[in-house]
Amino acid sequence: MTTWENDLTLGVRFMDHEHAGLHASLTELGELAATELPVNTRALARDARANAIRLRLDRLRLEVSTHFTHEEQVMRAHHYPRAGDHIAKHTKFLDELDAMSSTYAVGEAAMALRVVQFVQIWFARHTVASDQALGEWLNEHHPDVTT
Ligand SMILES: [Fe+2]
Ligand SMILES: [Fe+2]
Repeated sequence: MTTWENDLTLGVRFMDHEHAGLHASLTELGELAATELPVNTRALARDARANAIRLRLDRLRLEVSTHFTHEEQVMRAHHYPRAGDHIAKHTKFLDELDAMSSTYAVGEAAMALRVVQFVQIWFARHTVASDQALGEWLNEHHPDVTT
């Protein structure tokens, strides 16, 4: 599985902090979904895991959208020239994430693994392509926002 290593520091405190949190949530969810179920108490274990997966998926969706909202507020507040394109990417991603989630049974491990992979690949690209540009611009024009 391709992973998002999140080894790129943008030098913008809130972005780096939230990216690290997202990375940790993805790792946790990926490990949970990939865990082998015990043979004896299989049904019970599956139920418990499905519940845990559902909760963590909901939390991940909220964490992602909260992070996007935070970046978008900063872009708008400081009239970031590339805000339109950046925000459109966030919106498209959330639409795709929701479409993907709705095609699987709730709490399904295979779905969780696919979501984790999708989010990791997207964030690996987006961080380098869009967030890095935003980080550089904020550091240059609004260093007060970066600390
Ligand atoms: Fe970001
Ligand atoms: Fe972003």
